[in-house]
Amino acid sequence: LLTLAACSNDKKESGKASAAAEPKVIKISTKFVDDEQTAISLKKVVKEVNEKSGGSLELQLFTSGVLPIGKDGMEQIVAGSDWILVDGVNFLGDYVPDYNAITGPFLYSSFDEYFAMTQTDLVKEMNQKIEEENGIKVLSLDWVFGFRSMMTNKPIKTPADMEGLNIRVPTSQLYTYTIEAMGGNPVAMPYPDTYAAIQQGVIDGVEGSIMTYYGTQQYENVKEYSLTNHLLGVSAVSISTKLWDKLTETEKTILVDAFEMGREDNLKETLAAEGEFIDLLKAEGVVFNEVDSEAFLKAAAPVYTRFPQWTPGIYERILTELEKIKAAQ
Ligand code: G3P
Repeated sequence: LLTLAACSNDKKESGKASAAAEPKVIKISTKFVDDEQTAISLKKVVKEVNEKSGGSLELQLFTSGVLPIGKDGMEQIVAGSDWILVDGVNFLGDYVPDYNAITGPFLYSSFDEYFAMTQTDLVKEMNQKIEEENGIKVLSLDWVFGFRSMMTNKPIKTPADMEGLNIRVPTSQLYTYTIEAMGGNPVAMPYPDTYAAIQQGVIDGVEGSIMTYYGTQQYENVKEYSLTNHLLGVSAVSISTKLWDKLTETEKTILVDAFEMGREDNLKETLAAEGEFIDLLKAEGVVFNEVDSEAFLKAAAPVYTRFPQWTPGIYERILTELEKIKAAQ
């Protein structure tokens, strides 16, 4: 009997030991295709974490929206899955609506202004709120991929030129309201569906950055790029607090440091690539159009009045912060 008991204890112990040696697998889900800079920088993050953790963490990257992205991806985080989502800041806005206010139309004239905004107490409070109330830990708000403009088959100069155009937008009220205010018909769908949707005539074009235009080969479908620069293309990196709390302090540090390295890499490479991609797009027959910026700015202004769910006074607070940021830069 004694021998049997010892035996079963041994088994339990060895079972425990081998379970502890299993890596914690975390899936990273993103809409970006492998050729896009964000995905390239994310691959570096994966490599760094998997090497530095010495086998205790195993990040797995899923690009092109093969796993849930957008709203569905964020639901995985809220449900506590072993999951990291790299997608628009606007999807945080589905939980704490004020995130939409800091990424509203025509707010920033440079990436640096936005980066400075993410460092304000105002935004830190949002990060704290979403962590405590929704179980979403925001690891970064700063993976930029350029200002977003219009990719269509006809040149756009004024809001009147947008009339009757079905323009794909991410599944987010912020984008729907913005394109509506700018004069177009917003059609919400995940980005990976857009290439076929243009070819089938379901949409007339999409709005997005130069990185997106070149990286997803959308120039094969539409050849006019009209420089509205209406919204900033920027991704948040989010993880579930349930998962976060299961990690050791060392693992947390490895993750945070690796995503910071990736963010810097993504920014550096994006800044370097934008100019080069303009030339490559021109070589593909793309025509770049200047727009009546004042007219679009005026047209989009009512977007800021369409969110009753925003904290009262949030837009004014953002403008005050932005003034301080501009004065300091
Ligand atoms: O690959 C898609 C990405 O470049 C842009 O996606 O949804 O922000 O338009 P989205």
